[in-house]
Amino acid sequence: MFFSKFATVVAALVAVPAVFAQTTHNVVVGASGLTFSPNQVTAAVGDIVTFEFHPKNHTLTQSTFATPCAAMAGGVDSGYMPVDAAATTFPVFSFRINEVTPLWFYCAQGTHCQSGMVMAINVNASSPNTFDAYLVRRATP
Ligand SMILES: *[C@@H]1O[C@H](CO)[C@@H](O)[C@H](O)[C@H]1NC(C)=O
Ligand SMILES: *[C@@H]1O[C@H](CO)[C@@H](O)[C@H](O)[C@H]1NC(C)=O
Repeated sequence: MFFSKFATVVAALVAVPAVFAQTTHNVVVGASGLTFSPNQVTAAVGDIVTFEFHPKNHTLTQSTFATPCAAMAGGVDSGYMPVDAAATTFPVFSFRINEVTPLWFYCAQGTHCQSGMVMAINVNASSPNTFDAYLVRRATP
């Protein structure tokens, strides 16, 4: 279980008061190649972001912007989510957004990150740390 200041894994929801007008954002993982779809999400504080894992065996792992394919200390991490090729139901991993700060994620399986399997939440449009810049960095970590 991970409790970063940016996001709280939803398993800990019991203690969260229902004061937010929350929206759920759904991201599909690995349904068509090495992809998060969508690969960018804009979410408000209190919103839930849900990741639905398709075959094969991906992760949703938080990194820093500077080091795209390495796990950030204390970051969100789904762990490996192996899904059989014949599966008809898909495991889900969710967390709540605690702060509107850019959050950067990748798949930690093999070279999936280096292949471009990355996504971001709340990219700051005024910052030079764009999604495209992250995508470039992941190829040269
Ligand atoms: C998923 O991938 C991890 C890392 O490569 C591996 O250790 C694990 O055995 C895999 N799980 C399955 C069920 O293939
Ligand atoms: C967005 O980036 C700008 C420029 O770097 C910065 O001044 C601003 O504080 C950032 N906003 C957030 C919410 O991080």
